[in-house]
Amino acid sequence: ELSPIDRAKFVAAKRAAEMVQDGMRVGLGTGSTAAWLVRCLGEMVRDEGLRIKGVPTSTRTAELAREVGIEVVSLDQAGWLDITIDGADEFDGELNLIKGGGGALLQEKIVATASDQMVVIADAGKEVEKLGAFPLPVEVIPFGWQTTRSLIEETLVALDVLGRSAALRMSGGAPYVTDEGNHILDLHLQRIGNARQLALVLNQVPGVVENGLFIDICDRVVIGFGDGRVEVRD
Ligand code: A5P
Repeated sequence: ELSPIDRAKFVAAKRAAEMVQDGMRVGLGTGSTAAWLVRCLGEMVRDEGLRIKGVPTSTRTAELAREVGIEVVSLDQAGWLDITIDGADEFDGELNLIKGGGGALLQEKIVATASDQMVVIADAGKEVEKLGAFPLPVEVIPFGWQTTRSLIEETLVALDVLGRSAALRMSGGAPYVTDEGNHILDLHLQRIGNARQLALVLNQVPGVVENGLFIDICDRVVIGFGDGRVEVRD
């Protein structure tokens, strides 16, 4: 028996899997919700003869996809994708997102942007009025990361964004390292007034590779509830 939260993630993933058609090139997200999707697609490949090419957004997802029998190709092999299905840490009423809680935001943003449509799968608890309660992940290169952090903090002060503390993400006593060999700063902002502006300005700071704000990228959110209901927003 699944817990309500896992049931919510599963039903959202299952509904989104039905949007995948034979022959599609599919971006495969990262995280616990996306893992349900990969398993659903694996079943469809095995039981229904679905033929797809999957482009994973992390080494973790690539491993799982292979394990469940999905053909894995690189983004450059696929060229362009029909659909990307991924989780999110927060989504708002305009379907803008915070992503990167799982550390894979860079590949996730590249893959989502290279897709005809991006579908987010999430449990209902991820919906927010204003983005920012979830700490915003920013991927930075290791060289001079403390200087980069200072510059980011100055930028946040200039933009008058609440919070302003940027914490280096750790993993087992050492700085977390992304698939791309970078670090992650988690910005504790509480509430982001102008997400569009912040997304642009952060990427102007030297040393910043990408940030977890997905603005105008997501086309549809499939929301799962603990009682098994599903709602689609677009
Ligand atoms: C991974 O880097 C993130 O962008 C995930 O999409 C996000 O953290 C959602 O993960 P869960 O599905 O585990 O909540």
